[in-house]
Amino acid sequence: MKRIFTFSLCICLATGVLAQADANLGIIPAPVSVSRKPGTFKLDKTVVLVSADPANAAIADLLNASVVSKGGFSLREAKKAGTSEKAIVLSSSGAEQLPAEGYRISVNDKKIMLTGKGAGLFYAVQSFIQMLPEKQNGQLLLSGAEINDYPRFKYRGLHLDVCRNMFPVAFIKKYIDMLAQYKLNTFHWHLTDDQGWRIEIKKYPKLTTTGASRNGTIIGHHPGVGNDNVVYKGYYTQDEVKEVVAYAAARFVNVVPEIEMPGHASAAIAAYPELSCFPDQDTFVDAKTPWAGTRKGKLVQQTWGVFDDVFVPSEHTFKFLENVLDEVIALFPSKYIHVGGDESPKAYWEKSTFCQDLIRKLGLKDMHELQSYFIQRMEKYINGKGRSIIGWDEILEGGLAPNATVMSWRGTEGGIAAAKQNHDVIMTPGPAGLYFDHAQSQSADEPTNIGGFSNYTKVYAYDPVPEELSADQKKYVIGVQANIWTEYIQTPVKAEYFLFPRMFALSEIAWTPVTRKDLKNFSEDRLPLHLARLDKAGINYWVPVPAGLEQKVMNGEDFSIELKAPLRGARVFYTLDGTRPSENAAMVNGPVRVSVAKGQKLLLKTMVITPGGRRSVVTETILNNGAPDVKTK
Ligand code: ACM
Repeated sequence: MKRIFTFSLCICLATGVLAQADANLGIIPAPVSVSRKPGTFKLDKTVVLVSADPANAAIADLLNASVVSKGGFSLREAKKAGTSEKAIVLSSSGAEQLPAEGYRISVNDKKIMLTGKGAGLFYAVQSFIQMLPEKQNGQLLLSGAEINDYPRFKYRGLHLDVCRNMFPVAFIKKYIDMLAQYKLNTFHWHLTDDQGWRIEIKKYPKLTTTGASRNGTIIGHHPGVGNDNVVYKGYYTQDEVKEVVAYAAARFVNVVPEIEMPGHASAAIAAYPELSCFPDQDTFVDAKTPWAGTRKGKLVQQTWGVFDDVFVPSEHTFKFLENVLDEVIALFPSKYIHVGGDESPKAYWEKSTFCQDLIRKLGLKDMHELQSYFIQRMEKYINGKGRSIIGWDEILEGGLAPNATVMSWRGTEGGIAAAKQNHDVIMTPGPAGLYFDHAQSQSADEPTNIGGFSNYTKVYAYDPVPEELSADQKKYVIGVQANIWTEYIQTPVKAEYFLFPRMFALSEIAWTPVTRKDLKNFSEDRLPLHLARLDKAGINYWVPVPAGLEQKVMNGEDFSIELKAPLRGARVFYTLDGTRPSENAAMVNGPVRVSVAKGQKLLLKTMVITPGGRRSVVTETILNNGAPDVKTK
């Protein structure tokens, strides 16, 4: 008991000291520049919090709340401090000289000065909160420093799909808090899809009375093994949307709504079948998976995938979408409205005489050009309202709408092509690790997920600006985003697991200059502090495993495997006898040497336990020396 107590006390002191000892003062994303200065600021009850501008009052209160949480005392707030008083000063004066969203912090023994305006000052306070050490002898000690900071990209996004599974408003707000704390400034809210329409539209009540409800959901990984036959329904009222948008704005987060078109429209079509090419045709259900939906008529989908029944490009549909967008635009002040555009099969359009006639009438070449016509019509309408569209990279096919921003998701090619056509681009390529619904390891312990692989080091390694572009074209890459699709993410706790620690890496690639990226400092020095923050806040996360164990099979005779703790203070346990590692297994922090006899194999299993006591998944690696039953390819 005594030993355990001493151990956790050490961790507390260690994390407190570490933020101040780290070259980046423990801050994620790493600032543009951090330099050490003489002096130490002793933060105690005598310090005055000075903020003269009433516009900064909420930001001052945020800073004070962090002092209460770390120090157990609050600071007196005033418009100015006496000459002999120690002060933390928030100021916007001179901030116009700083780059957009930029800030400065200087710490000496008398004063901590935070300079910035709006988002800049808010980010200064976020950095200050991350720098705050744990209390030592009743004091919070901050060493002298100067920080200059501003973002690499103006668009720093995180997406959430609320259609496959929906999340309560309270979690949406928590999600926005998490974005804001890591200087992400865009929440992409994926509100409509085949499995549910999740935003109230007053002119079309059936979108939510019918389109927000599915009669069941497939069980297991697609195509599944059955249907749970449990009605799944829910949507956000317009009052809730307004509440979320205002909550986000107060944290300098813009909310981009996504209304999918022309594909991923099954829920809207179930509500209003006349939006389909074939209103009287039942929703297609694959005979091989009859559990994917059994009722007659149009169906809000109960399975995952891409579906042929898409919006018909009729005047009736355009009017419907314009009316929907009128309400969406009134709710969201965002410059950008996301119109989807991805994964829209052309099979129904090919079969439809209406579509064939339309193609001829418009003089279009093919169905891709018809999709382009569709998106361009909607763009014109949205531009007419003073807004701009974003679309997934399929909107390139058949010709880009003149003012569209492209979200490159299938890879980087779409982004490259769009930038070469002088269109703004947001990079969010799944293959590069920015699909946060992918698995974080190959362990059988991973919860059911869509597949693929993306861990935080893969995300960290990604540079959103493609080498293939010229210097001028590179300017069109305005940002980067990660996406969380929720086919297999049913709860907030599971969403957090898929989010962290990958979101930390996203934050750094979105904000920090590429020359300042440093994986070793990020993962060894700062990540542990931020995982400890998550522990304290009761937020779930994936526990990092030793690097290099992504391979399922290693071939050889004599192995030296580096089983280094992926986090400072974490412990790595392993077994070679097939049993599941626990605290009783061998502990290691360095190379493990193993010899395997010819024609034999050994199973190496590892598990990490964090300083906070969380356990990782168990990794399994076959150490193979020509064993007959091991597939090496
Ligand atoms: C997408 O993942 N279908 C954009």
